[in-house]
Amino acid sequence: GGAGDLLGRRIVVSAGPTYEDLDPVRYVGNRSSGKMGFAIAAAAARRGAEVTLVAGPVHLPTPAGVHRVDVRSAAQLRDAVLAALPADAYIGAAAVADYAPRTVADNKIKKSADTLTLELVRTPDTLAEVAASKSRPRCVVGFAAETENVEGHARDKLRKKNLDLIAANRVGLAGSGFESDDNALTVYSADAARELGPAPKTRLADQLLDLIAERL
Ligand code: C5P
Repeated sequence: GGAGDLLGRRIVVSAGPTYEDLDPVRYVGNRSSGKMGFAIAAAAARRGAEVTLVAGPVHLPTPAGVHRVDVRSAAQLRDAVLAALPADAYIGAAAVADYAPRTVADNKIKKSADTLTLELVRTPDTLAEVAASKSRPRCVVGFAAETENVEGHARDKLRKKNLDLIAANRVGLAGSGFESDDNALTVYSADAARELGPAPKTRLADQLLDLIAERL
């Protein structure tokens, strides 16, 4: 794959964490720098795609030629991604919070008792919703950050969320993951597995796009 091979393709990428507010000063969220998703958006635009990047709260510059939509919560991410369809591919690289506080307090929660119980409710699963939507992109790609049984959990998500590809990475390996500039991914499809890296996230992004371009 290379220069111009994604010309005329529409690609939607989500990146970064989501923050689920508890009160005006606190939130529940995942660890995520957004670097992998931003690298994918940058590489897709370089290769000619029309890219919408739905970004959670991160400190990263907008890649050249990319249309960026900033969001905070899982619910906002869902609305922004669905509004960006139709597309040829959706790449869900965001570390979306799976649970959000049932209620957001109007004022800062004060400390008093020794313990505090939070009630959390499931957030919408954007990836599954995109894959089930009437305007389903031809290629729907998920990410799976796992601490154990990486292949089992990744293949499970591939099937349950009806994905074309899932890129799995082991959380906690040195020189990979959250804040790192490098990563190593195993990309599963229904009938294959491909090892990408270890490599800089910019290079991994192009290798992942090669696998996606084959399917468009
Ligand atoms: O189920 P799990 O959260 O491990 O799946 C990870 C994949 O699903 C990622 O691609 C992530 O962006 C997506 N996801 C989502 N909405 C959620 C949870 C995860 O789109 N509420």
